[in-house]
Amino acid sequence: MLLDRLRAEIAAQNGWISFARYMELAAQVYYGRDDRQFGAQGDFITAPELGSLFGRTLARQLKEIDGPILEFGAGSGALAETLLKELEREYLILETSAALRERQAARLGRRVKFLDRLPENFRGVMLANEVVDAMPVHAVGWRSSGVVERGVSGKLGWEERPANGALLEAAKALQVPVPYDSEIGLAGQAWMRSVAQHLAEGVVFVIDYGFPRTEYYHPQRPMGTLMCHARHRAHGDPFERPGEQDITAHVDFSALARAAREGGLEVLGYATQAQFLVNCGITDVLADANVENALHYAPIAAQAQQLLSPAEMGELFKVLALGRGVQAPLLGFSRGERSHTL
Ligand SMILES: C[S@@+](CC[C@H](N)C(=O)[O-])C[C@H]1O[C@@H](n2cnc3c(N)ncnc32)[C@H](O)[C@@H]1O
Repeated sequence: MLLDRLRAEIAAQNGWISFARYMELAAQVYYGRDDRQFGAQGDFITAPELGSLFGRTLARQLKEIDGPILEFGAGSGALAETLLKELEREYLILETSAALRERQAARLGRRVKFLDRLPENFRGVMLANEVVDAMPVHAVGWRSSGVVERGVSGKLGWEERPANGALLEAAKALQVPVPYDSEIGLAGQAWMRSVAQHLAEGVVFVIDYGFPRTEYYHPQRPMGTLMCHARHRAHGDPFERPGEQDITAHVDFSALARAAREGGLEVLGYATQAQFLVNCGITDVLADANVENALHYAPIAAQAQQLLSPAEMGELFKVLALGRGVQAPLLGFSRGERSHTL
């Protein structure tokens, strides 16, 4: 089905579509399936899917900020379930996949309200955990002949064309060696600008894997950050089994911060996930667990290890907080070195 649709669209567009469009169509099919992408049996595992430790720790930060919670891309609904246990708040979900929305509704029932678009003048907290990495990215190549856009041909493989417009402008602003391939997240930046326009007061937390610009477009990363996940196997070929694997790119946090500032938001904090969770008091949450009972404690300790270890999610995952009308510092950024400049 997807293959037919892709081929028809590519033919209608004179034999070529942007990689961002390909990624968008593939994601519609991938997240439109009603089977299990998430968790130990699925294609990948996210922090809320490990267990409740992540959500319970995040809740300590959210207590500082008044108003409803709006979660983008709530996946299986695991984070919402934990946060609703910890906090008595109105809980809103903005989810682009109809199939996932159904799953979330079945799990969370009347405790959540689903939105079709961003509310005007929102006052409260917004959360996006592993959502921006799933947004379509444009693929770019820097060549001695100039900047090219790497798009998709009718044979479902890469085909380069000269870049133009906003993509060319964004690519020219980056300092990279030649030849070099990478991605530019124009859709993620547009999403951030739109979030900024709708957030009248409060904080948006973007939690994801990625880097600031200097590390993202590092000379030693000449093939970009595209990654595909199927059954816990990660590989770099986005044309393998289209629609049946998750395609992602790392997040350029500098670009998101800039887009948010353009929309009038202030950067309230940027830290590794490990630093953020430690500041929020993950060790206190752990201490609440029953240490005497190994059956109870061991899984929680394993979650902490996955969330905090530099070899797992601790360093690669970052937390970026942007806000308006909120007193800094927020709990999650109260201590720690700020060497990760944006
Ligand atoms: C990798 S999953 C993460 C799910 C969940 N947040 C978690 O941490 O387990 C990506 C989620 O983002 C959703 N999504 C992708 N683009 C979105 C957008 N522009 N707005 C809202 N949700 C989006 C997907 O449908 C999916 O629910």
